[in-house]
Amino acid sequence: MAMVLNKVVPFGRSMDEYVKIFNLTNTDLNKRIIGIGDGPASFNAEMTRQGKRVVSVDPLYQFSSAEILQRFNEVVDNIINQMKATPNDWVWSYHQSPDDLRSNRIKVIQEFISDYENGKKSNRYVIGELPNLEFQNQEFEIALCSHLLFLYSDQLNYNFHLKSVDEMLRIAQEVRIFPLLTLMLKPSPHLDGIIEYYKAKDYRVSIEKVEYELQLGGNQMLKIARDVT
Ligand SMILES: C[S@@+](CC[C@H](N)C(=O)[O-])C[C@H]1O[C@@H](n2cnc3c(N)ncnc32)[C@H](O)[C@@H]1O
Repeated sequence: MAMVLNKVVPFGRSMDEYVKIFNLTNTDLNKRIIGIGDGPASFNAEMTRQGKRVVSVDPLYQFSSAEILQRFNEVVDNIINQMKATPNDWVWSYHQSPDDLRSNRIKVIQEFISDYENGKKSNRYVIGELPNLEFQNQEFEIALCSHLLFLYSDQLNYNFHLKSVDEMLRIAQEVRIFPLLTLMLKPSPHLDGIIEYYKAKDYRVSIEKVEYELQLGGNQMLKIARDVT
């Protein structure tokens, strides 16, 4: 699994952002959770500090904290400047401005870095990538996937999405994915197909509105769950 670091944008979200993105309740937060493509999010670090347990899986974890931080520092200004140049694409409410977003992203990566080496040793940060993950069937109750599936629909085709969701449903009872828009702020072309596929297989499928919106119009989350009733 060779990953090229200079293709990655290691931007991570906080636990509070994950809670809002995925409508996570206190009951949810006490479940067995896996974060897929968690990258340098601080969700795992903050959850661990609160005595909860999350496993994060990402190909990025083949790199050291110094390498990840260096890559972040290389790209951060460029990305913030791109956002400043496209003011109509973003909603400044949770993050109040591009500069506020920048300082929030710095806080998140610092939190991640301070937890990373310990978390690797205790198998909370695991190297792996969709569409094949090395976990047991139904090892988790919830699988979260933030800012990977649907967002990168131009790079990842429908078949990759289908195989990835299948794999997440193999290892977890329930899957939540956010956002449902592509990088071009369009609804993902793969979304309807995925919804129909799992509805036809008698999964409970729903789109939930969430409180968080940064990409304009990106305030919906997809939930797919095994019908256990
Ligand atoms: C934009 S970042 C999102 C990070 C985090 N989920 C968040 O929302 O803060 C996308 C992440 O997906 C990871 N990624 C790329 N391809 C992947 C794959 N096939 N399986 C799992 N993760 C992947 C990248 O390494 C990167 O960390």
